[in-house]
Amino acid sequence: MAFTDQTLSVVIGGTSGIGLAVAQRLAARPGRVVTASRATGLDVADARAVAAWMAGLGPMDHVVFTAGSQAPGGPLAALDLSQARAAFDVKFWGAVAVAQAAAGLIRPGGTLTLTSGFLSRRATPGTLVKTAMNAALEATARVLAREFAPIRVNVVSPA
Ligand SMILES: NC(=O)c1ccc[n+]([C@@H]2O[C@H](COP(=O)([O-])OP(=O)(O)OC[C@H]3O[C@@H](n4cnc5c(N)ncnc54)[C@H](OP(=O)(O)O)[C@@H]3O)[C@@H](O)[C@H]2O)c1
Repeated sequence: MAFTDQTLSVVIGGTSGIGLAVAQRLAARPGRVVTASRATGLDVADARAVAAWMAGLGPMDHVVFTAGSQAPGGPLAALDLSQARAAFDVKFWGAVAVAQAAAGLIRPGGTLTLTSGFLSRRATPGTLVKTAMNAALEATARVLAREFAPIRVNVVSPA
């Protein structure tokens, strides 16, 4: 990947944790880095807001999605389904909304990077929501890698 003064990288979830670290590393390269989260006024659970915000940025090169680390845990019998859906609205549907909005904006040679998590590959009792979200995101990235080619789509599984 060549970074120039014209390169625009967008890190959604880039105000904390892994996203902040990614944004800081990108900022050391040529080009501009824009971060977003609820702290900057963007809630990724609002697909319309995501589409409007991304369109406002215009053509971009690299999009990284790390938003949404919260999800209810515990055994299924005690799981609050509305909290489970809310977690999917952020981490899963938020990633899908960002990918959809970015599809027509990422320039040739650009990339889209999603974030899953190690639980996708571990059958651990009490982790249904995170496990299912991460597995869904890994499946999503495999499909989008084909749909978006030659734009590269990757999913990073931390820990
Ligand atoms: N850290 C780990 O060890 C680990 C392990 C496995 C997987 N992961 C995955 O890696 C990703 C990043 O984790 P992290 O530990 O870096 O999380 P984090 O420190 O909690 O950061 C999450 C980021 O997402 C933003 N965010 C949360 N809800 C949002 C919303 N509705 N709209 C827009 N932005 C929102 C937060 O900012 P606001 O609160 O301002 O919105 C923050 O910038 C997550 O998908 C997590 O599941 C992390």
